[in-house]
Formats: sequence, C-alpha cells, structure tokens
Amino acid sequence: MITAMLKPEQPIGIFDSGVGGLTVAAAIKQLLPNEQMIYFGDTAHLPYGDKSGDTIVRYSRHIADFLVAKGVKVLLIACNTASAIAYNDLVNYIGNRVHIVNVIDPAVDFITNQYPQEKVGVIGTKGTIRSGTYERKIRERDRGIEVSSLATPLFVPMIEEGFVYDDISNAIIRSYLSHEQLEGIKSLILGCTHYPIIKNQIRKFFNFSVDVVDSANVVATYLKEILDEHQLLNTARNPEHIFYVSDYTEYFEAIARMFFEERLNLVKENI
Ligand code: DGL
Repeated sequence: MITAMLKPEQPIGIFDSGVGGLTVAAAIKQLLPNEQMIYFGDTAHLPYGDKSGDTIVRYSRHIADFLVAKGVKVLLIACNTASAIAYNDLVNYIGNRVHIVNVIDPAVDFITNQYPQEKVGVIGTKGTIRSGTYERKIRERDRGIEVSSLATPLFVPMIEEGFVYDDISNAIIRSYLSHEQLEGIKSLILGCTHYPIIKNQIRKFFNFSVDVVDSANVVATYLKEILDEHQLLNTARNPEHIFYVSDYTEYFEAIARMFFEERLNLVKENI
C-alpha cells in the first residue's frame, strides 16, 4: 500500500545491469508514449547473472536510492536477475514510497494463462535460474505445468559485446538451445531482458514452432494497468528520457540510439 502522494507527471525509474532493460523501456515508450523514463544501466557491474545474492541486493538498493531521489513514481526492475533476487528486499527497503514492479510476475501470469498444463522452458542467467523463482511462481499458479529451466550465461556477455547476428552467436545459441532440458517445450520464457535482442534467432532455432515469450510487452501492459488503477497515467507531450550508466560503453549508446533514435540524453553517474 503506497502512502506517499504520487503525481502523474513524475517519471518512471527503470534499471538493469546494461542494455537489457532497454528492451522493456522501448515497449513502454511504444505503449505509454507520454511517460517520462529515467533509466539506469549499471554497466560498471555487468553482468549481474554471476554475482552473489548479497551483491545484487547491494547494487539494487544503491540504484533504487538514486532513482527514488530523482522523484520517480514507479521503480521498475527491468532485470530478471535483480527481480528474482532483490525484489522482496527492495519492497521492504523502499517501503511504501513508490510502486515497485518486477519483470517476472507479469511473464508468469501470461504463461500460466496461455499455456496451462503444458511444458514450458525458461532460460536466464545463472542467478535467475539458480534462484528457482520462475519455477516456484509458475507452479504456485498451476501445478500441472512442467517447467524446465536452463542457465544460458554466455548470452549476456555475447550480446553486450555486440555478437548478435553472426557465426559466434549462432553457435552459442545452437549449443544452449539443443539441450535436452528444452525438448518438447510449447513455449519458452526469455527470463533475461537482454534476450529479446536475439529473439528472432531463438525463434528460428525452433523453426518458429515454439512461442518465444519475452517480458517487454507484458511488463509494459502491466505497468499501464498499475498507473491507470492509481490515476498516475501521464499526459505529457514528448517527454524527455534520461539514461544514466555507471560506466560509458559505446555499445550501450548504440543500442539506446537504436531504440530511442530522437535525442539521447546519456549521462555517466558514479553511484
Ligand atoms: N538483463 C538482466 C536480466 O534480465 C541482467 C543480465 C546480467 O547482467 O547478467 O537478468
């Protein structure tokens, strides 16, 4: 229960370890073009997927403090690893000052509604898969679904290094996805916000016969519902987004420009 007086014109705070959350930010821009976003990419500490839980919680708290101080109305954890490991902690830590949204619950809702009693695959970072969060949340909703999870830790460094449409990325994608864990799946959750960047290659690997679900659109839809429910939808025109990074990387700038072509307000911030 949020007790702070939030206003529609306040921005939405979004964070991820790097470019991954931009896939969610792009979906929000599409669905909610009047919302201003303040994005934090923790590029200095990337990747999150192989860090300990304590470290992820520490990084997440620092970023949450930073974004809340910027006056956001919603804190969106656009990172599955931080959503799996730090969400409960952030809810306690931030308390009732802003709405906190993770990227896992909306995807779980979608899958349990669309594919009851089927076999679903989940791929993500080591941290996300090891936490068992997807499995637990899916099975809480539908005990009949068979969930088969697989860590695919090379995907994030591969994507952050720009290996996306080439022999290297194809070989890595093939090697992970031919794992027996994923045999017979009807749908596959991309349990990492970086993975939509290689979604087409993943769909192609399965000959387009598996529904490859990423959280970007379902999270944007969920966010719209939350804002609507609390009369927090903004009506601003051409809001100016701000992108903070803890370390400047050319790749972050290139991907951010790809999603937000207009003007890119990119700031390096040590936190
Ligand atoms: N994009 C993030 C996720 O959804 C983080 C990946 C990483 O930094 O390892 O899990």
